[in-house]
Amino acid sequence: MELQVKASLAGNPMNSNLTNHVVFFDTTLRDGEQSPGCSMTTQEKLTMAHALEDLGVDIVEAGFAMASEGDFAAISTITQAIRKPRIASLARAKTEDIEMAARALQFADRARIHVFLASSDLHLEYKLKIGRQEALDRTAESVRLARSLVDDVEFSPEDATRSERDYLVEMVRVAVQAGATTINMPDTVGYSTPEEYGQMFREVRERIPAIDERGIVLSSHCHDDLGLAAANSLAAIQNGARQVECTINGIGERAGNAALEEIAAALYVRSDHYNVTSSIKLDRLYPASQVLGQIITFKPSPNKAIVGANAFAHESGIHQHGMLANPLCYEIMTPGLVGVSHTHLVLGKHSGRAALRHRLEQLGFTLDREELQQTYYRFVALADRKKNIYDQDLIGMLPDQIRERRNMPVAQLD
Ligand code: KIV
Ligand code: ZN
Repeated sequence: MELQVKASLAGNPMNSNLTNHVVFFDTTLRDGEQSPGCSMTTQEKLTMAHALEDLGVDIVEAGFAMASEGDFAAISTITQAIRKPRIASLARAKTEDIEMAARALQFADRARIHVFLASSDLHLEYKLKIGRQEALDRTAESVRLARSLVDDVEFSPEDATRSERDYLVEMVRVAVQAGATTINMPDTVGYSTPEEYGQMFREVRERIPAIDERGIVLSSHCHDDLGLAAANSLAAIQNGARQVECTINGIGERAGNAALEEIAAALYVRSDHYNVTSSIKLDRLYPASQVLGQIITFKPSPNKAIVGANAFAHESGIHQHGMLANPLCYEIMTPGLVGVSHTHLVLGKHSGRAALRHRLEQLGFTLDREELQQTYYRFVALADRKKNIYDQDLIGMLPDQIRERRNMPVAQLD
């Protein structure tokens, strides 16, 4: 069975740290699913996998084959339905996990086994109860076993950012020698800062020349406990990482993982700064976010960057006035860039006359200066009492004579 699996899983190395192309590794279906309210059925995972394929992600981590029959089934189903992205399964550094991952992936055109083992003393001592040498031995054995089954093996020293640096380097070196094709260095508990995280990538790359010599890809994997996941991921990219692990809407353990949409948009909007490319189709970001929001139990918070309901909404009068004059005043990207249909000028107590007039005109009412002034007073009084002002509220506050002349330009009003 092993030879057969290897033959069907043959694939090319994804990338290298020497190119300027960043590979997007989406773990919504694995790390994302590991958070309250996010568990998905096989059918739901498949729906999401289609959205990820449509979005242009390079690798879909479809689950953790050993974790449950459901995860195994979902990975296997996805490998048979999704062809463009490479499909990955997570595995602990254990023979049974790795063999199970290979079995779940056997129908994939291009597959990856993602092996992880903790590298911090805290995890080794309290969680795994093994010493440093044993962890190194397991790293070598498990990466070798995975490489005997598939050509594409990722190794993650879990809790890399809280690991003693010389030992982390040693573990990465062992994984590289054993045949890992991608080395992912996770900030498992979201503890790092952009400077530290970037420096770790620089140092590991400098101390292990084989990484660049053999075209081994370095990867970031950040959690958002301090709200730094996207910033840390971008710092890793600036220091040579050419794979970024992330989830849609930033879902994931505790405060979540780095949000795919934030990283992809930042790389594009600030391409002057990052100077790297990706295969992400930006206008599929919002649709993918919506698909996920319908599958799991919650939507992104309204103020979530890129995909939140308020990401392209403006309420204050000064901002609305600026937006109407030139959207560049307050928007660094058009909503259409990320698949949102339009900017939303929300009418509330901070709005000004310009936005009120604009909305009333959209509704077919053209007011002269004095009428607008009177309507504005009524509008502000209502907005002070009410959180949401709807079109019906606006129409309701207009006197009859204005309502009756709907759609008549102001010049014809007299
Ligand atoms: O956060 C983490 O360390 C992980 C690993 C399994 C890659 O999710
Ligand atoms: Zn994680």
